[in-house]
Amino acid sequence: MAKEIKYGVVGGTLSAFIGEVHRKAIGFDPRAELVCGCFSGNTEKNRETAKAYAIADERIYPDYKTMAAAEAAQPDGIDFVSVCTPNVTHYEICKTFLEAGINVVCEKPLCFEVEQAQELQALAKEKDLLFAVTYTYPGYTMARVMREMIAQGKIGNIAAVNAEYVQDWLINELAPEAGAQENLSVWRKDPKVSGISNCVGDIGTHIECFVHYVTGLKIKRLAATTNKYGHALDLNANILVEYENGVNGAYWCSQIAAGHYNGLVVRVFGDKGALEWHQEQPDTLWYTPKGQAMQMLTRGGFGFDGEAGGNSRLPVGHPEGLYVAFANIYRDYVTALLAKKAGEPYSTDSLTMVDDGVNGVKFVHAVVDSAAKDSAWVEL
Ligand SMILES: NC(=O)c1ccc[n+]([C@@H]2O[C@H](COP(=O)([O-])OP(=O)(O)OC[C@H]3O[C@@H](n4cnc5c(N)ncnc54)[C@H](O)[C@@H]3O)[C@@H](O)[C@H]2O)c1
Repeated sequence: MAKEIKYGVVGGTLSAFIGEVHRKAIGFDPRAELVCGCFSGNTEKNRETAKAYAIADERIYPDYKTMAAAEAAQPDGIDFVSVCTPNVTHYEICKTFLEAGINVVCEKPLCFEVEQAQELQALAKEKDLLFAVTYTYPGYTMARVMREMIAQGKIGNIAAVNAEYVQDWLINELAPEAGAQENLSVWRKDPKVSGISNCVGDIGTHIECFVHYVTGLKIKRLAATTNKYGHALDLNANILVEYENGVNGAYWCSQIAAGHYNGLVVRVFGDKGALEWHQEQPDTLWYTPKGQAMQMLTRGGFGFDGEAGGNSRLPVGHPEGLYVAFANIYRDYVTALLAKKAGEPYSTDSLTMVDDGVNGVKFVHAVVDSAAKDSAWVEL
């Protein structure tokens, strides 16, 4: 049976990290079909991946420009493209597909410069295209429950935020050992590919987006320190933020924190209680109503009401994870796209869109700017 939506991928060979996650996650809901791609600039890898995905020969493209032009020209061309390449390429690739009239889903960080991000934002608006930026973690059910509980007033007025995203995969950068294995994604350390930041761009932006997603708080200004330990780009950063309503938050991101892998932890404190979510135990949300003991809320279990729990795909006790979070993002994106195509009302409220991508680029620039000015406050 023909699927309702057709899509293509740029980046994401079989050995790449996130492109494979996108493709598998889209497959959770049988509504979108992968029909074309330019999976790599390397001809052999491109063909190998395309063959593994059963892409027709004429829709395996040597580069993204050829792909955008060819797909825009055919009557059953793709409805959207997923951009899963390293940061340096995002701006040009997204711009090319938007100009060709094709909807875009792009990885974060959106691009290098704020002006580029705003240009992409304006282009998507002008062309009336759906442009999502995949920040991953808002796709988890309990992240959405957290957002809903905050909106329901369960923790009252927000008084403070504390969040971290800590990893240790670059700890060898502190004291290099002879013969130590280079990690796969070394491009992240290269300013030409990664941009002006490594750690803040790669994982600090997840904190910035997640806190905004669950609380609605907007950062007014921030003061930061970054640590490069003699390298070209940051590997650790401490960031004090002030939101538009005067509340403060403290963010820490690190790639040299021994014993931590993908430790995104977000704590939101209000005048009626607190909520805390750990991405490595994503089915659990910690809720402390003021004056009571901390409660462990479990995806699919009891203790919360509202609609967000309905994102759950498996019965309570069967863990969900990263693939399902991405699947939820694509389910909502494809639902919006189908409704839009049919001329019906649609919502992108559960998604992170190009506006969030713009915020992320502004955040990275403000952190780098503040750190360069001896942690001076920098407005966003
Ligand atoms: N949302 C998340 O949680 C998350 C997680 C990991 C990575 N990312 C982001 O995803 C992007 C890719 O990261 P990754 O870890 O998958 O990198 P990766 O190095 O594993 O994969 C990149 C892929 O892009 C391909 N590629 C590079 N340039 C290309 C071009 N011009 N045309 C076609 N293909 C090209 C490479 O061949 C490779 O297959 C980055 O922007 C990164 O920040 C996001």
